[in-house]
Amino acid sequence: MTTTLSVKEAPNCHSRPRVEYNPETMPRRGLQPIAPARSVSDTAQTLPPVTGHLWAALVDQPRVPADPFGAPTIRMTASDRIQFDVAECTGELRPRQFLETLTADVMRDSEVLGYEPVGVPLPAFREAGYEYLARRGVATEQSITLVTSGAAGSLALLARALVPTGTLIAVEHPTWHVALAVFAATGVPVVAIPVDDEGIRVDVLARVLEEHRVSLIYLQPAFQNPTGVSLSGERRAAVVELARRHRAALVEDDFAAELAYDRVPSPLRTAEAFNEVIYVKSFSKLAAPAFRAAVIVAPNHHERALRQAQHGLDPFPSALAQAVLARYLPSREFQEHTKRVASMLAARWEALDSALQTHMPDRVRWTSPQGGLCAWVEFPGEMAALELLVDVAAEVDFCPGSVFCLENSGKHAARIAFGATAPPAIARGVGRLARAVRERLRNPTRPPHAAPAPAP
Ligand SMILES: Cc1ncc(COP(=O)(O)O)c(C=O)c1O
Repeated sequence: MTTTLSVKEAPNCHSRPRVEYNPETMPRRGLQPIAPARSVSDTAQTLPPVTGHLWAALVDQPRVPADPFGAPTIRMTASDRIQFDVAECTGELRPRQFLETLTADVMRDSEVLGYEPVGVPLPAFREAGYEYLARRGVATEQSITLVTSGAAGSLALLARALVPTGTLIAVEHPTWHVALAVFAATGVPVVAIPVDDEGIRVDVLARVLEEHRVSLIYLQPAFQNPTGVSLSGERRAAVVELARRHRAALVEDDFAAELAYDRVPSPLRTAEAFNEVIYVKSFSKLAAPAFRAAVIVAPNHHERALRQAQHGLDPFPSALAQAVLARYLPSREFQEHTKRVASMLAARWEALDSALQTHMPDRVRWTSPQGGLCAWVEFPGEMAALELLVDVAAEVDFCPGSVFCLENSGKHAARIAFGATAPPAIARGVGRLARAVRERLRNPTRPPHAAPAPAP
């Protein structure tokens, strides 16, 4: 097998699984302080000590994120490597055949190949979407519902519509790198609040909201990408209360709740929270990302701003995708496929957890997701995930943690995603990664394995 690698320069990161208190020790490169607000480091100094394990460091200053797609990447031509880098349902986790039948069926009507009026969902999708939302338990009273071209597009629209100049977006740390890319493109400064095993640290969020003007809080309450952790029951109520008190829009990205290994968690946007929570549902994990379809359910008072942003940013979500989903969502196949995928992911998580326990040295730590497609693994001490990635690159692929973090965090962690990898390969991949970790523990200063020469 021939492998070619090219590695871009890693950003200057530091990461310790605790709140960083000393502003003097924090690199300042690329920071965008929001005058005249106090820095988050000032906030952190008065915080109660951290007891739970944080999966990323607190960011000391709000900043416009760097584009994560410009972060370190490894490109390879090896075709048989074990994929831990794809947080996507692939292969048998896709309802390909059924979607093919539905697509052929709806294509008989050439109307689905056209534009829909701007801001108006396809009537059949509107009906199926409301049925779906009712089944999911999402409150839709006194709300506006928009169809968008996927969750990524929804976030762009929400950031544009609801974040006035001079205010901030608060995100979980680490968080979905695509959300960071979207916020980077809008130029809005972001403040990152660390996540522990119960989700976002609401005590840190509370202090940040006291001292900064945050207009939008972006959360994934269920099986967060990249850590797989979920917001605990206690924190759910607290976070809604904080959003209410500080008049911040709380955006719930509900991309993977149905992929629960056991119990599907309720949405945050229930009847008690319909005025605070904006619900975003992508169908990329439940149907297919290629359809580029999502819905936003938001309180009525956001209607004008959201419609205006949609006119400029995402005026024509695919009518074809809506027509297919309008048939898929009410079908028995949708229910059965979702259950099948959730149980396959549960088996993959078990394989991953068991392989990590068997092979990894003691000082490696990882999250314990109850659903979804990914877990977060932290390597010991100063071990850099990017160097490990180069060590194993001929056989294994994963995303270094820094991709999901603002500058200065996540360098010693990785997202291990298992939507594309079956249990036997998971065990082999973890075995290989563990071997690389042990080698680096024995010889920390060793340069990463050199890439083999490309084939002639
Ligand atoms: C957190 C999160 N939200 C939403 C999505 C789906 O995004 P989109 O609808 O843009 O495909 C993903 C896909 O990976 C995700 O990780």
